[in-house]
Amino acid sequence: MQQSVVLVKPDGLQRGLIGEIIGRFERKGLKLVGLKMVGLDDDVLDRWYAHHKEKPFFGGLKSFMKQTPIVAMVWEGLDAVSTIRKLVGVTKGREAEGGSIRGDFAMSQSNNLIHASDSEENAQKERKMVFEDDEIYSYVSGLDTLVYSSEERE
Ligand code: CMP
Repeated sequence: MQQSVVLVKPDGLQRGLIGEIIGRFERKGLKLVGLKMVGLDDDVLDRWYAHHKEKPFFGGLKSFMKQTPIVAMVWEGLDAVSTIRKLVGVTKGREAEGGSIRGDFAMSQSNNLIHASDSEENAQKERKMVFEDDEIYSYVSGLDTLVYSSEERE
């Protein structure tokens, strides 16, 4: 099974959307294996958004991400990275498809509620930036037998 890292950004926290967002992933059949509240500092944000360092919005993005703590999660499932990206929707909230989290709750390109890993490689890097190994749990969920076929669980 694949893991993906999700952050509920400061706007999601302040708008009271943490439960809504977690509920969508739960209802999809994904498994929550890590969850905590974190205050991101410049060191983590410089590494997290290293690919945006030269962009004009980099400073604003860092300030935004430091407004409040964020809620960090690791979700597990078959093809979790691409599945979660679909549930989240495209970056610009007002262009995101209805039914996606951003499509249903966001208008902005910057204040877009949520981050989701864009590749398995980045998910592993991001996981290490905010979680210790012993904060990620491996457990058997009774739901797995209902959510997946026996072939998919192998
Ligand atoms: P995300 O795709 O999770 O990661 C990069 C973030 O940078 C993005 O969400 C937005 O929060 C922010 N971002 C991307 N493009 C812009 C932009 N043009 N202006 C301001 N913020 C942006």
